[in-house]
Amino acid sequence: MSPTILITGASRGIGLAATEIVLADGAKVIALQRTSTAGLEALSRKYPGSLQIVKGNFTNAEDVSAIALADSLDAVVLNAAVNLPFGTIATIPLHGYRGIFEVNVFAVVQFLQLALPKLRKTKGKVILVSSGAGEIGVKGIGAYAASKAALTQLNRTLAVEEPEITAIALHPGIVKTVMAEAVKTEGHGHMDPALAKEWTSNYIEPDVPGLVIRNLVFKAGRDYSGKYLHYNDPLIESL
Ligand SMILES: NC(=O)c1ccc[n+]([C@@H]2O[C@H](COP(=O)([O-])OP(=O)(O)OC[C@H]3O[C@@H](n4cnc5c(N)ncnc54)[C@H](OP(=O)(O)O)[C@@H]3O)[C@@H](O)[C@H]2O)c1
Repeated sequence: MSPTILITGASRGIGLAATEIVLADGAKVIALQRTSTAGLEALSRKYPGSLQIVKGNFTNAEDVSAIALADSLDAVVLNAAVNLPFGTIATIPLHGYRGIFEVNVFAVVQFLQLALPKLRKTKGKVILVSSGAGEIGVKGIGAYAASKAALTQLNRTLAVEEPEITAIALHPGIVKTVMAEAVKTEGHGHMDPALAKEWTSNYIEPDVPGLVIRNLVFKAGRDYSGKYLHYNDPLIESL
């Protein structure tokens, strides 16, 4: 039977690429994001009956409760995130810091609290799309970086608390998406210019982490649970 995979933030970027790749492999996808896009609508036409597009806010309990309680949930790819506003600890408005944590961390916890009973039943997989920004000190994007460090740690906790589930955190690389473009357009004056230039001149395409997500969802065993992996980790390449 086709596995059912929930992907958040599928309207563009990495989420859209992963959605296309797993649909091509025969999966059924539930896609949650605030807006639909031409790319997502095109996939809906290409794979009739296989893609359920749900417009909703991942932070909103009502919006996520319906999908968390879907008939069957074999894997969830929690990919939706925000990285704005930029700013240093000294300058960033506290509500901006909170807004990033609401989407990138608290919404993930809220979703897992709703979905864990389903995922235990299917011995499901949870892929948390994290970031290498959470491993290092980078000026100007500290709120985003702290939220991703928290997400990576959440994955370790999930793996030890939920032995029936395989939980993996992924750094998808520096990927050519709307989020990464913000480093160019908004990073000026916040980030170290040399680092911002290095990041924005070394993009990979979204289908690279899209394929990695597919491989983790379909092939990674329970022995991968609790791991935090970069997209080009040998453990992924060997799958
Ligand atoms: N791009 C990179 O270089 C990079 C590097 C490291 C990690 N990542 C991680 O990779 C993941 C995907 O990023 P991306 O680069 O593909 O970003 P993106 O192009 O900005 O896409 C973000 C997605 O999240 C959705 N989203 C944001 N807030 C939401 C909310 N409150 N509720 C529902 N959906 C929401 C957006 O859809 P709507 O706006 O329609 O809601 C969109 O589909 C993120 O977790 C990001 O932190 C990216």
